[in-house]
Amino acid sequence: MTEGDGHTGSRRGAGSARHESGWLTYGPARTLLDSLDGTLAEFARSDDVRLSEVAEHLLRRGGKRVRPALLFTAAGAASPAGSAPADDDLLTAAAAIELLHVAALYHDDVMDRAEMRRGVSTVNALRGDAEALTAGTFLFARAIRMLVELDGWLADWASQSALALALGQLQEAENTYNVGHRLDSYMQIAARKTAALFELSCRAGAHLAGASQETAEALGLYGRVLGLAFQAVDDTLDITADGDSGKRPGIDLREGVYGLPVLLVLQLKTAEADRLRRILQRDDLDEAGQAEARDLVIAAGGVTGAVKVAHGYGQEAVSRIAALAASDAKESLIRLPQYVVLRRH
Ligand code: IPE
Ligand code: IPE
Ligand code: MG
Ligand code: MG
Repeated sequence: MTEGDGHTGSRRGAGSARHESGWLTYGPARTLLDSLDGTLAEFARSDDVRLSEVAEHLLRRGGKRVRPALLFTAAGAASPAGSAPADDDLLTAAAAIELLHVAALYHDDVMDRAEMRRGVSTVNALRGDAEALTAGTFLFARAIRMLVELDGWLADWASQSALALALGQLQEAENTYNVGHRLDSYMQIAARKTAALFELSCRAGAHLAGASQETAEALGLYGRVLGLAFQAVDDTLDITADGDSGKRPGIDLREGVYGLPVLLVLQLKTAEADRLRRILQRDDLDEAGQAEARDLVIAAGGVTGAVKVAHGYGQEAVSRIAALAASDAKESLIRLPQYVVLRRH
């Protein structure tokens, strides 16, 4: 596989991280992010050439690196004066969590039969499910080894988060094509499959910074509700994405994965909800049907509603860290939810 293989959209992020860091004015986190690619590459290397190749496929395309940025910034916000954690430990923890995330993306793209991610074709589309699943499992294994060597407490938290993620993915799979899927079940899935790693990132930063239990708890809750906002907005991208998201829109609809905008419309007792239900229940939802459903979800206020939900969680996140001492890092954490809500990719 060469660098350009499978590239179908605008090139972005190839060979470098795409940390959309307008929100991140906390300097030490920016510096650490610049070193992250090297740490990731080092830990994702394998003696098996094919394994290295498939594992690097997504890694070298960057990604937003939100979880590592969160970890570094949470550590900064939690650091009692004069006890900054070692950069190497922060980098190892952040790289491990990013590897867990990327591992989950490999598995997720098989489950969702996704064809594009980070602006390029997925490994499952290019080389089949077996290679994509193997790459994911390999990265999981590497991440866990890094964490076990770094810190037992962190490894334990990470294993619990990975379990939550797996359960969330399973619960979502059990609810595909469920036009009666309840919002509380949706929120539980989002908490497990996405918010768990956001919370872990914040708790890991706080832990490595030697934070008090109270501070670690506040940052952990911040991460959890931010993760809910993040997933709500991610769901809107399947409806509204215009090629800027690096993913192909409509795939979740086709695969029966109904995100928040769709569920918000389906729960209405309106003619639009009935029409949407009928479209979704067609045996084969072709591209024209997907486009019709997406237009309907937008017209019926599903996207606006999901963004509103995300905005609410963003505000809750900020309130969770109100008691933390003022710092540059805290300022960045206060700015981040707005970026999460307004993001287009
Ligand atoms: C995608 O996560 C999966 C979700 C949890 C919604 P990101 O949007 O953080 O993906 P990358 O890392 O930037 O590609
Ligand atoms: C997000 O899954 C959570 C995980 C990857 C585990 P999604 O299926 O909602 O995310 P995207 O939209 O494919 O990135
Ligand atoms: Mg997916
Ligand atoms: Mg999915």
